[in-house]
Parts: sequence; C-alpha cells; structure tokens
Amino acid sequence: MNVAISASRPTDAACLIFPIAKGSTVAPPIEAQALAAEAAAGLRFAGETGGLVELFAAEGGRTVRILLVGTGEGKLADYEKAGAAVTARLLTSGVAHAVVEGAGVDATCLAHLGLGALLRAWRIDTYRTKLAEKSKPTLETLTLASDAAELPALWADREALAQGVALTRELVSEPGNILYPESFVERSRHLADLGIELTVLDEEEMAKLGMGALLGVAQGSVRKPRILAMRWDGTGGAQGAPLVLVGKGVTFDSGGISLKPGPGMEDMKWDMGGAGAVVGTMKALALRKAKAHVVGICGLVENMPDGNAQRPGDIVTTMSGQTVEVLNTDAEGRLVLCDAVWWAQNTYKPETVIDLATLTGAMIIALGHEHGGLFSNDDGLANQLLAAGLQSGDKLWRFPVSDAYDKLLDSPIADMKNIGPRYAGSITAAQFIKRFVQDGVKWAHLDIAGMVWSDKPGATWDKGATGYGVRLLDQLIRDHYSAA
Ligand code: BES
Ligand code: MN
Ligand code: ZN
Repeated sequence: MNVAISASRPTDAACLIFPIAKGSTVAPPIEAQALAAEAAAGLRFAGETGGLVELFAAEGGRTVRILLVGTGEGKLADYEKAGAAVTARLLTSGVAHAVVEGAGVDATCLAHLGLGALLRAWRIDTYRTKLAEKSKPTLETLTLASDAAELPALWADREALAQGVALTRELVSEPGNILYPESFVERSRHLADLGIELTVLDEEEMAKLGMGALLGVAQGSVRKPRILAMRWDGTGGAQGAPLVLVGKGVTFDSGGISLKPGPGMEDMKWDMGGAGAVVGTMKALALRKAKAHVVGICGLVENMPDGNAQRPGDIVTTMSGQTVEVLNTDAEGRLVLCDAVWWAQNTYKPETVIDLATLTGAMIIALGHEHGGLFSNDDGLANQLLAAGLQSGDKLWRFPVSDAYDKLLDSPIADMKNIGPRYAGSITAAQFIKRFVQDGVKWAHLDIAGMVWSDKPGATWDKGATGYGVRLLDQLIRDHYSAA
C-alpha cells in the first residue's frame, strides 16, 4: 500500500474515511450524513481512538463504503492508531483505493494518520504461495485529501520513517537460512544509493584487528561473520564526531555448545533485531535527508555449535586487549558487541555511543513487551533517550549500572567472565559492555529483547516484527543530534 496526497477528495475511491474526535458530533460531509450519525450512535461509537464505524451508502450516484474512525484526544499517537485501525480494517477488504477526508485536520496530525496507516499495512508475503484470494491484500492507495500547504513535506518526512521501519521488519522477519551475515550486508547495500557510505569488514580483517570475542562466537558456524558500518553525514562535514549506533546482529542464536532448548528456538532468527533497527534508522535518516552525522554499525554473526565451535571455558582476547572466559556460549551478544563497540570508538572517535541488542531473556522477565531496558553512564543521554521513547512510542525504562554489579563479572583466570550469577542478568550483561566503553565516552545500552517481536498485533504493527528502535533513534537524532 502507498499513501498519496490530494488537495481535493478524489471521486473514484471505493471508501471514504472521516476522522472523528472523541465526543464530537458525527456529521461527515456526505449525502448519507444522517445515516452515518445513526450508525455511529447505534454502534455506541464516540470517537474513541481507533474505533471504527463502517457502512455502505449512496454518494455521487455510487455506493461507497464509509468509515468513521475515532481520533480520541487528538494526540499524534491517536492519529497514528486511527490510521492503523483503518488499514487493519481495509487491507484485505476488497477496497483498492480509500480516501481520508482531511479538511479541518491539522497537517501534522494527518501525516501521522498516514504514518500509522502505512506502518500497519506492512506485511511479508514472500513465502506464501497459497494465500486464499480473500486473504490477499487489496488496498493499494490511501489518499490523504487536504489542501494544507505543509502536508507534502510533512508526509515525505514521515514516509521516510515508515520505510526505515519497514526495512527493519523485513530483516527481522527473514529466517536464518536466508538472512545470515553476508546476506544481511547484501540487503543493506541499497543504502549506498541514498548517499550512505558503507564499510564492510570480513573475517580476515577482523582477525587482523584482534576481534577474538566476535570471532569466537562465529567460529562454530559455516556462515562467515561481517561488520557492517554505515555512515550518513547530512551536515556537509559541519558536525565532526558522529553519533555512533551499534547493533547486535546475531542472525541466528542456537546458543552454541551451550545449546538452547528446542521449543521456541525459532525465535532466535530475530536475534539480529538491534542490528536491524540500526539499518532501518540509517535508511530513515538518509531518506529524510537528516541534518545529522550518524554512523550505524552492525556486528553480524551466526551462533552455532559445530565441531569448531567455542567451548564453555574457552578464553578469548578481545580487540581491546581484555580477556574473557566464556562460561556460557549462549551469552554471545555481549561478545559480539564488545569488539564492535571497541572498533567503533577507535575508528569514529564518537562522543556518544548507543548500542541496541536483544541481549537477555531476563529483560523480558523484567519489562515484558512494554518497554525496552535502558542502561547508561550518562544521565543527560539517558534522559534524552527516555524522552525520545515517550515521544516516539518506542518506550524505555532505565536500570542501574554500578561497581557492585560490575564486580560480579570478575573471573578467577581471565579479566572477566561472560556471565554473572543468576540474578540481575540484564544488568550484568550491560556491565560487560560497559567494560569496553572508553574514558569520556557517553554510552547507552538498550536491551530490546522484549520489543523486537510481537505475538499479537499492536498499535501500528501486525503480529511479528515490530520495527522497534527506528522511531526511537530517529526521534533522538531529530531532538538532539541534528544541526539547526
Ligand atoms: N539472544 C539471547 C537473549 C534473548 C532470549 C533474546 C530470548 C530474546 C528472547 C541471548 O543471546 C541469550 O541467550 N542470553 C542468555 C544469557 C545467559 C546465558 C546469561 C539468556 O538470556 O538466557
Ligand atoms: Mn544467546
Ligand atoms: Zn543472542
């Protein structure tokens, strides 16, 4: 589905959509106004966010579908949910073209209605060869009818965001046999056409750099690891040090020799959700030509248990020189991130590094699927992220880091072990990464294990990949890391 803009209401649409604020009088400007009002009353519709009234009525000598959609309190999130409700309802309804009557609706609100609509319309049908006719998407175009002069630019900006989210969802949804480090890189190559500079490190280069931790994870898989770096500078060189984003890209996490149990292991195809969010964010930034300097880095490996796999008890030397006793090969994300984060700091000299990772199951125990976990060594950065979370809808909740937790990683034989004791598993994972943050660097770690995948439809997503993180990072960069 695509979203179009038209100054006046097109006459060929099979469906007319009217946003209705909570508690307002239902009086859409159509021939069947009284009927629509009666239908709304009969269905006890009062403009609740995302609430729908659907009827068929005569309009201009044709029978059209009329959809009233509630926009609640009128916040941007309400408009997004309204747009999402519309596409959830219409996507496979038989309607090909629907029009939103935008007269009298604020242009930013309308753009967010379009954003919600586009996000909710995303789906992946690549592997369905037998989809029943009635289950196939029919909705091709949603037109926002409004003559507001600002709307086209506002919409272009929001559409960029939706396309970034779509790329993330695609990467997250693809199974491990299709998406592995090399193919992940290939799927990201098109970003070069948008003006993003790509750098790819292969196994040999990583070995030369001394990335023993990342390579230790990769060594049990026939899929070769990669580091992908994507640099977007929309400031024309005005902003020296870039903001650096680092994503955990474990394209499949079997656990390695510390093998995971069978049931649910398929979920570990989305153990690259952090890397996916980083790629999607870069795409959104480039598409909306953000006036920001950002480098996105993905540490890409597959964690498998073959005859060459690393063993529990192995000691690896990280690029930083610090040694790690690998007590559990399933605590692999931190081993990937520590080398990627170290390389990122050496290469790009950032003031600020944010890493995103589906790092611990414990994060899901703590926060469920409502917030990502935030860990940071800097209150200013943490507060910026919390605010961006609230604004974008990709919410975060902050957890502590401290020396007392850090101590739990001490090893009797190496500089540290890769797991702590049973409790506070998400915090000790964060502390592990923190040991690779260089002096003076502001750092935040986002444990998004509970947010990448959803077993049920949500506000602006169907079940499956949510695209979490793209909107969060885009909002943060808009608010704090962009030139005026
Ligand atoms: N990728 C997992 C974490 C995860 C689990 C994400 C479930 C999403 C859903 C990570 O690599 C992992 O296996 N973590 C271990 C760490 C433990 C061995 C200290 C975990 O959480 O069990
Ligand atoms: Mn694991
Ligand atoms: Zn993992």
